[in-house]
Amino acid sequence: MNIEIFQKNLIEWYKKEGRDLPWRHTRDPYAIWVSEIMLQQTQVDTVKNYYIRFLKTLPDVQSLAEADEDLIFKLWEGLGYYRRVRHMQEAARRIMDEYDGHFPDNYDDIIRLKGIGAYTASAISSIAFGQEKGVIDGNTLRILSRIYNRQDNIALDKTKKAWQFLMDDLIHGSDPSMFNQGMMDLGAGICTPKHPDCKSCPVSDFCEAHASGTESLLPVNIKNTSKTDLYYITAILKKDDKYFLIKNKEGLLENLYGFVQYEVESPVSFEETFYENYGFSVRLYEYCKEIKHVFSHRIWHMNVYLGEIPDEPGTSGRLSGHLYTEAEMAELPISTAHRKICTQIS
Ligand code: ADE
Repeated sequence: MNIEIFQKNLIEWYKKEGRDLPWRHTRDPYAIWVSEIMLQQTQVDTVKNYYIRFLKTLPDVQSLAEADEDLIFKLWEGLGYYRRVRHMQEAARRIMDEYDGHFPDNYDDIIRLKGIGAYTASAISSIAFGQEKGVIDGNTLRILSRIYNRQDNIALDKTKKAWQFLMDDLIHGSDPSMFNQGMMDLGAGICTPKHPDCKSCPVSDFCEAHASGTESLLPVNIKNTSKTDLYYITAILKKDDKYFLIKNKEGLLENLYGFVQYEVESPVSFEETFYENYGFSVRLYEYCKEIKHVFSHRIWHMNVYLGEIPDEPGTSGRLSGHLYTEAEMAELPISTAHRKICTQIS
């Protein structure tokens, strides 16, 4: 294959047809970092507004390093995978300490920052600093499978590792920022998983799968998709006009606020477990409904109950929480799973 022509076709197409996205108007590595972390597990359309608000509120490494914890989680509320923003703040503090506030300018230093893996380090170093590091993700693996008509299972880590070299060969000598973003857009809009639009593809002349009519059979992507079902009793505990919320100290939703929930089988077991943890009594008096929330590897089945706190909540327990009005709750960072429960209140 003539790699130069492949690159030229891709990049010319990208210049004409590439998506106009807010983070494509800058080469500020901080801004690109924010966008790439948000894009790790969230769709482009959702990220746009979060990105703009985040940068307005925290425009540089220093402001992120110094930001209040509740603020960073509030800015992230609804994006999911909240560890991402805590890791970003840790990385921002390290950049302040070790790099005098300047974002490191090469792949090897970037990948050492908390929360950054091969994809994100490649994206930042190519887009902000022009380094020849090809991005490997579901989109680019699918494109490579088809271009080279390969049957390797792209769900396997060994395929991702092996194909980093293919990508780095393909990007060599091009404009790395445009090459990578062209590949991303090709994957998002043309070389789609189902019904790829080969007629509009700028590199279809190079595509071995297209030549042999196998594009719809590729990529081979066989993963273990089993999700764990978790069943909770989740309680909306009310005292006068306030609701009892806790701040999660660990787990998937660490640092977010939410209702108390336990993997127990009956309201009575909930009340007992609650008492053991918080040192005061609550009473569940009505079943509302089951609310489901799907994460990447688990499904939460939240059986929502209404409950009351008869006496003043004590603070002698092993754990503690606080009472909040609805207006206060609107300002707190709360997980999407538990925001769904808030709709049962109002
Ligand atoms: N997904 C991950 N990074 C991206 C980017 N820079 N543009 C579009 N989609 C992306």
